[in-house]
Amino acid sequence: MLKMHVRDKMSTFSWFLILAGVCTTTSSCLTDEGSLDDGGWSTSKKDMLAVPGPCDIEVRDAKGLSQQEFLNRYAYDLPVVIRGATDNTVFQDQCRKENMMKDYASKRIKLSSANTHSYEKVEVTLQEYVDKYLKPQTLKTLGNETFYWFGDNNFTEWQSLIDLYQPPPYSVPDMTGAYSFGLAGAGTGVPFHFHGPGFGEVVFGRKRWFMYPPNKTPHFHPNRTTLQWLHEDYQELHPLERPLECTISKGELIYFPDRWWHGTLNIDTSVFISTFLAY
Ligand SMILES: *[C@@H]1O[C@H](CO)[C@@H](O)[C@H](O)[C@H]1NC(C)=O
Ligand SMILES: *[C@@H]1O[C@H](CO)[C@@H](O)[C@H](O)[C@H]1NC(C)=O
Ligand SMILES: *[C@@H]1O[C@H](CO)[C@@H](O)[C@H](O)[C@H]1NC(C)=O
Repeated sequence: MLKMHVRDKMSTFSWFLILAGVCTTTSSCLTDEGSLDDGGWSTSKKDMLAVPGPCDIEVRDAKGLSQQEFLNRYAYDLPVVIRGATDNTVFQDQCRKENMMKDYASKRIKLSSANTHSYEKVEVTLQEYVDKYLKPQTLKTLGNETFYWFGDNNFTEWQSLIDLYQPPPYSVPDMTGAYSFGLAGAGTGVPFHFHGPGFGEVVFGRKRWFMYPPNKTPHFHPNRTTLQWLHEDYQELHPLERPLECTISKGELIYFPDRWWHGTLNIDTSVFISTFLAY
């Protein structure tokens, strides 16, 4: 019932977008469901300073990707985008703005500065975050002067939400996952950094991922944002120096192997969850 209702609303909205000239055909509006169902975390068009790029990371449908193949081909060697891995409808619904503000507005979250080393931390409630910090990134703001929520949750307070998450159905031998849940404005992101392997999943919005293998250190300034890097450095890169990249949307997973450099950029206001793997 609820699904039908949302669908009806979406197609009306699609027609509205066509009439408003945002999409040219019904299919261009309808196929990109992720950008339509933003869970109430809306983004105005003028605030979108970045667009999705090409996708040159392998994209696999979970139906055709066994755990064995994941291990042989990707786990230690290559990033991969995986579609249709889990049904996280229940978790997604709880992450809609209206539900989050109803149940979690007073919960505390820890914000980190959006530079490579994330030195600075601030603790606020979700309500304060949404009122004061959740803004689109501008091209002028530096990463070390931007606070954004990308994890570091108090799991006593957030357990009931995280419990609804169906984790990625692939694993790396002897490693276990720790979750990191976040919400951030259009144009925000984390500049290049690396750590152990893990998965990133977009709950609402779209996230553009840039990656380099461990032996190919990218050129970037640790206090400048991914948005600044995209506008300043990315354009100038020789084709052979370009990162691997892909933009993932609602319900899609991306896997990054151990020590692979990655930088992220939220195209829209985005809700996301990562699973960091460790021994
Ligand atoms: C942020 O980084 C820039 C450049 O690295 C530096 O000039 C500035 O003082 C830093 N801002 C703060 C608040 O530390
Ligand atoms: C980045 O910013 C931090 C604090 O905001 C500062 O201590 C550090 O020196 C800056 N790094 C560079 C390379 O400018
Ligand atoms: C986490 O939240 C609980 C419940 O509000 C609180 O008692 C605890 O001190 C918090 N832990 C940290 C590390 O902030």
